Amino acid sequence: MSEYMIEVTDVNKSFGNGAKPVHVLDNVSFRVKKGEIVTLFGKSGCGKSTMLNIVGGFERADNGDVMHDGHPVERPTKRCVMLFQQINLLPWRSVIKNVELGLEEEKISAEEKKERVMDALKLVGLEEHLNKFPHELSGGMQQRVAIARALAIQPDVILMDEPFAALDSFNRYNLQNELLRIQEKKKTTIVLVTHDIDEAVYLSDRVMIMSSHPGRIFKEISINQMKPRDRTHGDFQYYRKKILEEFQLSDEQLAPEYNI
Ligand SMILES: Nc1ncnc2c1ncn2[C@@H]1O[C@H](COP(=O)(O)OP(=O)(O)OP(=O)(O)O)[C@@H](O)[C@H]1O
Ligand SMILES: [Mg+2]
Repeated sequence: MSEYMIEVTDVNKSFGNGAKPVHVLDNVSFRVKKGEIVTLFGKSGCGKSTMLNIVGGFERADNGDVMHDGHPVERPTKRCVMLFQQINLLPWRSVIKNVELGLEEEKISAEEKKERVMDALKLVGLEEHLNKFPHELSGGMQQRVAIARALAIQPDVILMDEPFAALDSFNRYNLQNELLRIQEKKKTTIVLVTHDIDEAVYLSDRVMIMSSHPGRIFKEISINQMKPRDRTHGDFQYYRKKILEEFQLSDEQLAPEYNI
């Protein structure tokens, strides 16, 4: 059994097959250990969402290998769920019914379904709001419902594409803390996409800095600090600075064909 939950090897991806296809991902390789939180960090348009979509089976790579727990990724599965920046709850369903949605096709008993839904809602602190509708909830609470829906499925991997970007900083900090608490308990493997340096340093075990045009992994930085981390601590600032510096370097080292 491999210690890696996700293994991406030499993935290339271009869009468009006319005269000028856009080469978005160039020989991208990385691995994520079971229970790890790894962040893809990079400029807008560098291919972060594309990479996440390929890991989740929503897009196919042109070539290269993507493995999830030792099996090639061919299509989306319930073992690996995606959490988007746009919170996609169904407005006509209550909190509890939105979380149940993820389990609709699962072949499990009604009791187990109920139990999983309630466990997930408790984990995100929404057990008091079961019968509310999305429009009655704040943005932070809505994203909690989406997290609960993902957790109820009990996936091995949660892919998060800027999940907290739409929230104010107070809500964002709260949800980041909750995510760490839940992850500590469930040991879910998380691949996160963000362009918020603080978020990357606060949550990640490793940060993968990507360069753009085409998207490559430019540098990998391990964050060797106990969690929860102190955002005001010198070590935190050290990693913040290091990521920023590498990010600036990545921007200067554009591929020759773009370096004009
Ligand atoms: N389905 C598609 N068809 C054509 N081009 C696409 C498609 N999806 C993405 N692209 C292009 O691929 C590049 C990378 O897009 P992607 O969405 O992966 O970037 P990103 O790093 O997630 O950016 P952001 O931080 O703005 O979300 C962009 O140039 C984008 O226009
Ligand atoms: Mg994106």
